[in-house]
Amino acid sequence: MADARRLLAIETSCDETAAAVVSEDLRVVSSVIRSQVATHAKFGGVMPELASREHAVHIVSVIDSALAQAEASPEGLEAIAVTQGPGLVGCLAVGIATAKALALAWGLPLVAVNHLEGHFHSVELESTTVEYPAVILLVSGGHTILAHAPRLGVYELLGATRDDSVGEAFDKVARELGLGYPGGPAVDRLAAEGRDVLGLPRPMREGMDFSFSGLKTAMRREIAAGAASKADLAASFAASCVDVLCEKLGKAVAAYDPKSVVVVGGVAASPILRARLQEQFGPSLILPSLKYATDNAAMIGAAGWTTYRARGATTGDLGPMPNLRFAA
Ligand code: KG4
Ligand code: ZN
Repeated sequence: MADARRLLAIETSCDETAAAVVSEDLRVVSSVIRSQVATHAKFGGVMPELASREHAVHIVSVIDSALAQAEASPEGLEAIAVTQGPGLVGCLAVGIATAKALALAWGLPLVAVNHLEGHFHSVELESTTVEYPAVILLVSGGHTILAHAPRLGVYELLGATRDDSVGEAFDKVARELGLGYPGGPAVDRLAAEGRDVLGLPRPMREGMDFSFSGLKTAMRREIAAGAASKADLAASFAASCVDVLCEKLGKAVAAYDPKSVVVVGGVAASPILRARLQEQFGPSLILPSLKYATDNAAMIGAAGWTTYRARGATTGDLGPMPNLRFAA
């Protein structure tokens, strides 16, 4: 049998310069991620201008490494998939310009990928198949979205955050607790050592939208009061976030009776959230493995293959779409 066809995927929407080679059966042949954490840590958040400059410096060597690790040559590739949005405009532009140049030089078709669809398809990189209808909870640094997918490629928005995303709230709380940047994983680790003693608010119980800014303010008050340990503060915060996320996801599951419950994005790397989801949603739950929960190019490859098979190559002029949406 001939080798499975492969594509090169490129991701530069935020502060990770990433490239991957993914085969048509969604096997990750190589995945390279160059994090910019060291550059942005001293600012406590991503500096967009610096991020695009770093992408420009490192994109070619990251792609070279991904091709070398896959022992792939341009002639062996079927297409190039690249993140079109959402994300930081200057960062997206670097990935897109690079993908266009390579596609022109190598005579390959281009496939534009929505970063959020990339997160959704991250679960398929390890032989898992999403069954439809599906309910999707996407929890990342930039987004908190609840959606219903009646079939492949169709997404209906059920709810979204009205202010901060849950990942952003984790990062801000980390900063208040002096845990540095990026803080989500640090808060999560600390939370495992504490107990939910504070009884923080569970914001926005009604409906399927989210709001995390009130919770962040309540946390700020508790931190200033100085009565609770850092571990208990982190545990109380995480418990409130997990309760809210699982309650809303539970509502969507009750309303749509999905075959798959898919939870993706950076915050889906949280062991606390994963344990609770497993308990509540059991066998229909699908999570990405930890290495594909946070930003990477392999997930862009998975979404790229899905798009390429369904609609073929992206035609016409392709430019960054910083506000591209996941679901209408
Ligand atoms: O999906 P992602 O890598 O980037 C975006 O597309 O935004 O998500 C990054 C977010 C950050 O806010 C980070 O703090 C959070 O995911 N995160 C976590 C964990 N790992 C990453 N939050 C809680 N627990 C974790 N273990
Ligand atoms: Zn992301």
